[in-house]
Amino acid sequence: MGKVRIGIIGTGYIGNVHARIFAKDERAEISALYDIIHEKAEKTSRAVGGKVCRSREELFENCDAVLVCTPNKTHVEIAVDALGHEKHVFCEKPFAVGLESAKVLLEKAQNSKCKFQVGHNRRYAPVYVKLKEILQSDKPHSAHIKMNRGELKNPAWTGDPSITGGFLYETTIHLFDMIRFQFGEISELVAYGSQHEYPELDEFSIIFKFKNGFHCTFASSSDASWLFPFERMEVFFHHRTVLTQEMEHLIDSNGMDANFETFSWAMLEKEEKWGYAQEDKAFIDAILEDKEPPVTAFDGYKSVEIVESVYKAIRLGEKIVFY
Ligand SMILES: NC(=O)c1ccc[n+]([C@@H]2O[C@H](COP(=O)([O-])OP(=O)(O)OC[C@H]3O[C@@H](n4cnc5c(N)ncnc54)[C@H](O)[C@@H]3O)[C@@H](O)[C@H]2O)c1
Repeated sequence: MGKVRIGIIGTGYIGNVHARIFAKDERAEISALYDIIHEKAEKTSRAVGGKVCRSREELFENCDAVLVCTPNKTHVEIAVDALGHEKHVFCEKPFAVGLESAKVLLEKAQNSKCKFQVGHNRRYAPVYVKLKEILQSDKPHSAHIKMNRGELKNPAWTGDPSITGGFLYETTIHLFDMIRFQFGEISELVAYGSQHEYPELDEFSIIFKFKNGFHCTFASSSDASWLFPFERMEVFFHHRTVLTQEMEHLIDSNGMDANFETFSWAMLEKEEKWGYAQEDKAFIDAILEDKEPPVTAFDGYKSVEIVESVYKAIRLGEKIVFY
């Protein structure tokens, strides 16, 4: 196979992040772009090349792999269409909105010969790779996690649940995937939620228990403030606390005194610090080496299952048990 020809559907913020990364990968080329606002695709093409297409059909004719970078509720329909055209698919998070549509896409992806990768970029961020390394070399007991935003207005549709599916799908799903990645499969959860600033539940307190006995508390607010770090994982061990701050630092306090060691990735370019460059490389690796991508359709499905379970726990006022 020559260069992997990349087609991007949705050339907004994240579509351009990926476009710039793939344009630098010698094994890939940006071959086709499609956006319902034609001028946005034209602008991206001026920066990274690629045929500006008038339809999805035209895009499929001009690429081997499709990046789905459109708003949340459009992902399943577009990804299913791309798989139907026998294209490899990189689908931005969330994998889907709602369990029914997540099942449709999961089945389609698992029955396809094409590669399917979900954009849970944080798994590749050096701070979380380092955290996993520490967790595997020691015995963590519990954790406290938060994922906040200061507002839901940028882009404007992120505050509209009819497009996002809800705040948990837009922001918190990143760390829902992360807790599965770090701590394993969930066995049960309880959750409380309330509504303040936006036309949806926008504050959450959750307790998760995992199949291996690990447990954690998890707080997520859609409009607290932009106080750094917006996301943080604090993991507790025997005489040891490990703390992440955003994707910038990891602090390891190991022992009976208050000493600590700091690991910092603050000076890395954002595309590497946040794992975007690594996930895009992994997608090309999976296609060229015919291997499973690191974040599969099943992982995408499980993250949707966690979101839906939290909403259900709040709606019913009941503990949710996973079998
Ligand atoms: N992994 C991450 O860190 C990350 C970061 C930002 C966004 N995202 C996800 O990426 C997706 C896009 O977010 P964004 O911030 O780039 O949004 P955006 O609004 O900047 O870009 C979306 C683009 O899609 C276009 N579009 C909308 N519907 C379309 C359709 N049916 N066909 C073709 N084009 C269409 C819009 O015109 C727009 O240009 C969302 O699902 C979001 O959750 C992920």
